[in-house]
Amino acid sequence: MSSESPCSSPPPHPDIAHLVALLGTWRGRGRGDYPTIDDFEYLEEVTIGHVGKPFLSYAQKTRDAHTDLPLHAESGYFRPVGVGEVELVVAQPSGIVELHTGAVTAGQELRLELATLHVHTTPTAKSVTEVTRSITIAGDTMHYEVAMAAVGQPLQHHLTATLQRITD
Ligand code: HEM
Repeated sequence: MSSESPCSSPPPHPDIAHLVALLGTWRGRGRGDYPTIDDFEYLEEVTIGHVGKPFLSYAQKTRDAHTDLPLHAESGYFRPVGVGEVELVVAQPSGIVELHTGAVTAGQELRLELATLHVHTTPTAKSVTEVTRSITIAGDTMHYEVAMAAVGQPLQHHLTATLQRITD
């Protein structure tokens, strides 16, 4: 029987080489708003990993910064298309699935500018028709902004957060 662990970490697939700055576990704090809801503050943990294949796994969970109760969570995959483009699929327990495409700019900072091709919602989910996500990595700091068109409102800001990488 092989002694090799099924959990041993392979090298990143060459197709994700320009995205390795995303890898790691990140923790930080964010703020959210929307015209139809009260403003809120949250604590967040994001984990972005790889298994040696040409995609990155993505998962996040959040808690209310004041009550510590669980808030939003989501998970999905970043799928590079060459070095300048990326696709993102994300599913939320609130019944929303986002299918994004976007541009990748790699320089001193890594920047992803994503917009949905499609948003699908289950019959009981709230209505969401468009989402944009902007993610910037500079060293061990991640900053992101999320905007959405939802519940009859035009595309506008929902989230801003800044996180620090706590493990590679
Ligand atoms: C860090 C991630 C997120 C956090 C912490 C968060 C938090 C919240 C909170 C606290 C509310 C108000 C209470 C509630 O309806 O549950 C809310 C509402 C909502 N959020 Fe988010 N959210 C996040 C991400 C998203 C994303 C990515 C989407 C859509 C793609 C989204 C769509 C909505 C919608 C549709 C509502 C309902 C608005 C309404 O009822 O008027 N949220 N969110």
